[in-house]
Amino acid sequence: MKGIILAGGSGSRLYPITKVYSKQLVIIYDKPLIYYPLAVLMLGGIKEILIISNEDTIPFYQKLFGDGNKLGLSISYKIQTAPNGIAESFILGKEFIGNDSVTLVLGDNIFYGYLDFFYGAIADTSPGATIFGYRVTDPERYGIVHFNSEGKALSIEEKPEKPKSNFAVPGLYVYDNQVIEISENLKPSPRGELEITDVNVEYLKLQQLKVKKIGRGVAWLDTGTPEALLQASNFFGVIEERQGMKIACIEEIAFIKKFISEKQFQEVIESMPKSMYRSYLEKVLQEQQEEN
Ligand code: DAU
Repeated sequence: MKGIILAGGSGSRLYPITKVYSKQLVIIYDKPLIYYPLAVLMLGGIKEILIISNEDTIPFYQKLFGDGNKLGLSISYKIQTAPNGIAESFILGKEFIGNDSVTLVLGDNIFYGYLDFFYGAIADTSPGATIFGYRVTDPERYGIVHFNSEGKALSIEEKPEKPKSNFAVPGLYVYDNQVIEISENLKPSPRGELEITDVNVEYLKLQQLKVKKIGRGVAWLDTGTPEALLQASNFFGVIEERQGMKIACIEEIAFIKKFISEKQFQEVIESMPKSMYRSYLEKVLQEQQEEN
């Protein structure tokens, strides 16, 4: 399973926050937004990752993650010349995906809680796609999935004016290799984008779309407005301060998931400036050493 993080776009809705760099670099409490979706891929055991963004922002990601080696990952980068749509990810990522399956996560989507819904989808090797349904109060802002009484998906619509349900499709999608061909055959929508919803509709037509509902034990947070960014920061601030444990701390995840050895973890820590983040990782290492 390969992983793609789509982390470009115009970010115009958050201007002037996004005047200099793209939205996924905005800080959510104590780390850039993109750490949260990257952490989700890592927790899913995905080590080969492609970050797609615009030309101006890619150097910032390269500064943050390099080639991923320090985290036991292989991270590569691809330029998207214009925001031509989410489904363009699979055309730009064709070579990277090769003959494999792929998980796409949008770089501005945050998930927190028990991620079993995602781990199950990754482990499922049957043909097709798995997407998710998450209950929201503002369905007209999202891709919306409508279920029948047996919980089978009947339709998926992008930002419908009259939503048939309150189940939004979050920006986390697990596809088999057919996604490349499906995306290559898409026509741009009236707003001129290759729509991820059209990819999902194709899988639905093929009867190869699995849609799993995510329950209330998982937080899927919005990052579309200044209020939503503040709420997300407060949310993670409260949890991290209460527990003394960090969320989406990619170095800790790399160590715990054994992507890197204890020695490599120590080297990563030593390369950091003295900071609360570094002190936290030192504590993680010390606790691990005491346990062994
Ligand atoms: O967040 C989930 C929703 O994401 C889904 O429910 C919708 O079906 C899906 O279309 C998408 O809706 P958005 O309106 O949130 O999409 P947006 O255009 O804001 O793009 C999502 C992220 O992807 C955003 O951070 C920018 C980035 N992006 C987007 C496009 C269209 C790119 O990097 N390149 C692009 O071409």
